[in-house]
Formats: sequence, C-alpha cells, structure tokens
Amino acid sequence: MSDAGRALSTMVNCPQRWDFAGAERLYAGVDLGTYKAIMIIVDERGRPRAARMRRAEVVRSGLIVDFAGARQMVGEMIEEMRSASPLPIEQGATSYPPRTEDANVDATRYILEGAGLEVLSVPDEPTAANRVLGIRNGAIVDVGGGTTGIAVIQGGRVVFTDDEATGGVHLTLVVAGNRGIDYEAAEKIKTDPAMSREVLLMVRPVIEKIAAIVERCLQPFAGLDRVCLVGGTCELEGFSGIVQKALGIETFRPPFPQFTTPLGIALSCLDKR
Ligand SMILES: Nc1ncnc2c1ncn2[C@@H]1O[C@H](COP(=O)(O)OP(=O)(O)OP(=O)(O)O)[C@@H](O)[C@H]1O
Ligand SMILES: [Mg+2]
Repeated sequence: MSDAGRALSTMVNCPQRWDFAGAERLYAGVDLGTYKAIMIIVDERGRPRAARMRRAEVVRSGLIVDFAGARQMVGEMIEEMRSASPLPIEQGATSYPPRTEDANVDATRYILEGAGLEVLSVPDEPTAANRVLGIRNGAIVDVGGGTTGIAVIQGGRVVFTDDEATGGVHLTLVVAGNRGIDYEAAEKIKTDPAMSREVLLMVRPVIEKIAAIVERCLQPFAGLDRVCLVGGTCELEGFSGIVQKALGIETFRPPFPQFTTPLGIALSCLDKR
C-alpha cells in the first residue's frame, strides 16, 4: 500500500502527474462518500495511473441522496480520465457501506453504467479495504466524514459490521465551537498537518468516544490481532495513538488511510476479469 498510496497522494487532482505509459488495460474504481467522491484508475497490474477527488454532497449517511448529481459527477470524472488516457476506460467497480445493500448496490451500479462503465464488481467497503490490507483476523475501522464503520475480519472475511453516526464532521464542529469560527474555517484548521497538535487537544474527547464505540463492537470477538484505521479522519496525526491506548490492541494506520478503500475498489476489478 505505501508505494501505491504515495503515488496516489502525488497524482490525485494533478493531471500532469497522471501516467498511462505502458499500460495494457485500465480500470476505474469509484468511491462515493459523504465527504468526497474519488475515482482511481489502475492498470492491469494494479498500479495507480490517475486519480481525481472532489468534495461532493451526493451521499448522506452512506446513502445516495442525489442520484442525478452523482451520475453527472461520475460522468464528468470519467470523461476527464478518458480524455487524458491513450487507452479506453470501459470497466470499473464501486462500493457501498455494509448493510446498505438494498438501497445502494443497484444505485451505485447504475451510476457507473450511466457513465458508460461496465461494472465488474461491487464489494462492500471493508472488503474493498481488505483487498489492500490483507488482514486475516482483526478489525477495520473506517472513520469517514459522517460515520465510523467497524468491520471484524476472521479468516480473511468480513464477519461483522456496524456503523455509528460519529465521524470527521463532529471533529470539525468541535474545532468550530472551540475557536468560535464557521465550519469551513474549522475544516481548514483541522486538515492542516501543521495544526495537528493543537487540533488533537480540542478533539481528543471525540476520538475517545469513537474508540469507546469501537471497543464495544469488538468486545464479543476474541483473538483479534490488530485494528487497522482507514478513512480521511485517521489522517489526523495522533488519532491512531489515542485509539490504540483505549483499545489495548495493536492499532495501525496505513500511510494514506483515505486511499485504502478506493484503491481496494479499483483493484477488485482485477479479480473479476
Ligand atoms: N488531513 C486530515 N486531517 C484530519 N481529517 C481529515 C484529513 N483529511 C480529510 N479529513 C477528514 O476526513 C473526513 C472524510 O473522510 P473520508 O474521505 O474517508 O469520507 P467519506 O468516505 O467521503 O465519508 P463517509 O465514509 O462518512 O461516507 C472529513 O471529515 C475530512 O475532514
Ligand atoms: Mg467512506
């Protein structure tokens, strides 16, 4: 992950860094979240070649609330990729939060099909993340914008999931309240790596609350080796340390946690060729 993650972090939203040289086939992974939409293009060997991320408001609490908007956005993103690429991009994958299958699987599939993509796979989010992480016995905790998703992995498979309505938005609200500033200004401070020490002092209680939720979910499961933190909120320096301390289980954060799930979605295409 760290090589792919580093590559993604430099190429995302930088078309001048997109590189399709030598690729034989291309696949698109599309992740529609509450906070952002991301499209990652990988080649036949799973190497990331291009990536676009946009703030988006087409999903709320894991459900697509603006179908037409999502369709238009994914259409624009894929057209941009196609016009940069010497090869056609005709196949892709997308994903959904666990337990939203009924409402989401068909909707996300139609959104990709509307953009002219043949849908090769629609894994749930933790399964997509684990395509990258390769956990056998452990847990994946995805702290996104609106929610925290908890998935227990045993024997390499997702055996339990839960979802709680606490996420990055709540951290931002605490920063806004603390500083007496508006939401967008607080969001800027929260995501500025130079501010992480100060931010951590303000948001520690929210992180501890998230950790307590995770602890409660994991309690029935014995023998979990480790907990992996993914999602944008885990980018905050110091976040994983607080969670590890509360859980007492080895807790690690891949180098670029916000790209883990979307990369796994793109890579899931390689399994279904
Ligand atoms: N460097 C950073 N430091 C702290 N928080 C960050 C950073 N980068 C992004 N975030 C936060 O991560 C959250 C978004 O996470 P992510 O991109 O995983 O969400 P999403 O998948 O769109 O949403 P959800 O999973 O809730 O549907 C936002 O609250 C954002 O402020
Ligand atoms: Mg998410």
